Amino acid sequence: MSDKHGTLLIAGATGVAAQELIDIVERTPGWNAYGLSRNPPSGTTGAAGKTQYLKADMLDLHACRDAVRDLEITHIVYAARAPHTLYTAMLPGEKVGIESVGPNLDMLRNITMACQNPALRHVHAVQGTKWYGLHIGPFPTPAREDHPGHVPPNYYFDQRKFLVEGAAKHGWTWSVSLPGVINGRRVGTGPNLLSTIGAYAAICRKLGRPLDFPGKPGAYTALMELSDASHLAESIFWMCGDAAARNQAFNVVNGDLFRWQAIWPRIAEYFDMPAGSVRHMPLVQWMSDKAGIWDEIVEEHGLQRRPLGRVASWGFADFVFSYDYDVISSTTKIRKAGFSPMVDTEEMIFSQLDHYRGKRLIP
Ligand SMILES: NC(=O)c1ccc[n+]([C@@H]2O[C@H](COP(=O)([O-])OP(=O)(O)OC[C@H]3O[C@@H](n4cnc5c(N)ncnc54)[C@H](OP(=O)(O)O)[C@@H]3O)[C@@H](O)[C@H]2O)c1
Repeated sequence: MSDKHGTLLIAGATGVAAQELIDIVERTPGWNAYGLSRNPPSGTTGAAGKTQYLKADMLDLHACRDAVRDLEITHIVYAARAPHTLYTAMLPGEKVGIESVGPNLDMLRNITMACQNPALRHVHAVQGTKWYGLHIGPFPTPAREDHPGHVPPNYYFDQRKFLVEGAAKHGWTWSVSLPGVINGRRVGTGPNLLSTIGAYAAICRKLGRPLDFPGKPGAYTALMELSDASHLAESIFWMCGDAAARNQAFNVVNGDLFRWQAIWPRIAEYFDMPAGSVRHMPLVQWMSDKAGIWDEIVEEHGLQRRPLGRVASWGFADFVFSYDYDVISSTTKIRKAGFSPMVDTEEMIFSQLDHYRGKRLIP
């Protein structure tokens, strides 16, 4: 890192990558972190318990100002998003969801304005592959960061414009990460594909069914990538401090590719059940009456007593399993700039499933 010290505010601190970032900051001498969200955990958190949580609704500039009053924030990592209906878009007859620009831009602007002080050096925003229009349909692959995006609206475009103009006006620098589907070890703090797959497998097994692939047939065979939350957090911390990352956007994906076709039978084996067929069904609909079955599974296997909706994000899985086209982001730019770690996605999938099993979230 070029920046040897700092006070980092993570705005959207209970999101999927944020906790991993807090852990990294806590173990790095010279750095300390604050986390901000509307419903923060009480007290401190992070592996070392050093991070303090602040409570504010970022739609409210005054609330942001009150929350960071007297703090000299040097780096902001913005990792929030306004409520949206994007993941319900796969229901038959639903229109494709468009995430609203207004609140997503206001939230970033409010928290940045509230933290504006002479010590502020860098503002990072977590965005994603939707920059390339992944949510609309096939896009040119491997997607490179100089790709112009797609026809608006897309709040990422407006946030980027704000960062570029803000940096020029106030003298701080900016960076943006563009992850794919983020997979972390924290469950219940946002959409989580792998715990959803675990809950789906457990329900199918309980019903005596094989593990059918519930996505589109093309999604089973297309090339796909994922983003490990701790790898993403490491890259964000690197972007916050390294001169090569200033005023740049970087794809942050694991750096390898897979096809569900190859991994699905191994997932079935992991849950000790036969793999089934490709049978496209919106999980939002087909899992809507399965809460009772889940409660029986929880009882039978001595799992944590979490409602099904806090383990599985059916709409999110429907969204991801609808990509019946290649999803490939180039990692050339970030590697050339100096961030070279990569993650073996198959290993990540089974290690995270092991983790959820160890925590008794899934059987
Ligand atoms: N999740 C993924 O797999 C994924 C993949 C690629 C890109 N991304 C991108 O990553 C970014 C973050 O997404 P996410 O899925 O991690 O978001 P998320 O889980 O829905 O929310 C992240 C955080 O934002 C906070 N938040 C939401 N509204 C707020 C408000 N008005 N004021 C203060 N805090 C607020 C939430 O806490 P409270 O509810 O307590 O306020 C939470 O801590 C988005 O740009 C998204 O497109 C996500």
